[in-house]
Amino acid sequence: MRSSLCWLIPFLLMLASVAQGQPTRRPRPRPRPRLRPRPTPSFPQPHEPSEPTDLPPPLPPGPPSIFPDCPRECYCPHDFPSALYCDSRNLRKVPVIPSRIHYLYLQNNFITELPVESFKNASGLRWINLDNNRIRKVDQKVLEKLPSLAFLYMEKNQLQEVPSALPQNLEQLRLSQNQISRIPPGVFSKLENLVLLDLQHNKLSDVVLKSDTFQGLKNLMQLNLAHNTLKKMPPKVPTAIHQLYLDSNRIETIPNGYFKAFPNLAFIRLNYNKLSDRGLPKNSFNISNLLVLHLSHNRISNVPAISNKLEHLYLNNNIIEKINGTQICPNNLIAFHDFSSDLENVPHLRYLRLDGNHLKPPIPLDLMMCFRLLQSVII
Ligand SMILES: *[C@@H]1O[C@H](CO)[C@@H](O)[C@H](O)[C@H]1NC(C)=O
Ligand SMILES: *[C@@H]1O[C@H](CO)[C@@H](O)[C@H](O)[C@H]1NC(C)=O
Ligand SMILES: *[C@@H]1O[C@H](CO)[C@@H](O)[C@H](O)[C@H]1NC(C)=O
Repeated sequence: MRSSLCWLIPFLLMLASVAQGQPTRRPRPRPRPRLRPRPTPSFPQPHEPSEPTDLPPPLPPGPPSIFPDCPRECYCPHDFPSALYCDSRNLRKVPVIPSRIHYLYLQNNFITELPVESFKNASGLRWINLDNNRIRKVDQKVLEKLPSLAFLYMEKNQLQEVPSALPQNLEQLRLSQNQISRIPPGVFSKLENLVLLDLQHNKLSDVVLKSDTFQGLKNLMQLNLAHNTLKKMPPKVPTAIHQLYLDSNRIETIPNGYFKAFPNLAFIRLNYNKLSDRGLPKNSFNISNLLVLHLSHNRISNVPAISNKLEHLYLNNNIIEKINGTQICPNNLIAFHDFSSDLENVPHLRYLRLDGNHLKPPIPLDLMMCFRLLQSVII
């Protein structure tokens, strides 16, 4: 048990950093696209036909590349032939992607669709970044042609539903900040390799999440449904889950034993919901592998029971009036006085936030007696 935890914890910490926005795996270090000297036109350019929108014009094409197939509006680094940089160029259209490309950067443009012709030869693609564009819909004929795609990033677009025909090898799917209110049946059912699914800042409501929505996601470790309009906990979350993020929804209750289904769950975020004591069955969060629990900005008045593995607890901005260290101590405080030999059993809590409640210092002595590893209490 101990040895298996040894690898588990660094792994979880790594995953935690994923949550902060860093991908678990990146392709090998890649050169930053250099700013190319822009050719200065030597004679007045003809007026472009005016567009119905006031979008800024695409940047002028760069100098010819050593790769004859390099689209002129993009940059092909000579020392990284599998990468194509077309990001931040005010593009409206996806250029034709050469077949040697594995890593495609198209973020920060004004792209509205993914044409089949552009991706005809791009079957080697492993990574596509389309963040911050204007895509409304993804033609499933495009995705069907990308069997090696492992990372698909489409944050900040105008999608209204999760794209269908997602490639089976997908490992990360980031769709935050769209307007997704529909999840077509079975879209995730074959994605056995999917590790991260980010759907935060969308328009998902309870009726969209069916009991088979997440079925088939055998290896899903991080599910982010924060900033939607859920009133209920999502049903049938995959049991492999390590991180479940549900901040800023309207969740009022947690079904009895909900988290018991997830033996690996280590990070729960439920800040900014409508949880009250009534909606929290007694041992909801008293689960053995939980390391970090966020419950701030709810309507909780009693500190919930925790296990002695928990390391970080956020309970700030609730309506807690008093706290009894003896009652919330995961160990029996009386029997636990002989702690010297048994570090394993000392509650692991190191960080506790209680500010924004109706509590006044000092911190109760029995709290400090119980949580001997506490490094910081904010009250
Ligand atoms: C696709 O690849 C084939 C073979 O490499 C090539 O002949 C063809 O011109 C390519 N098509 C496009 C649209 O680039
Ligand atoms: C938490 O769970 C453990 C093990 O299931 C149990 O022994 C303990 O009494 C629970 N804590 C509380 C406060 O109920
Ligand atoms: C805290 O709870 C314990 C056990 O339930 C009780 O004996 C004790 O009097 C309580 N302490 C305070 C300050 O209320």
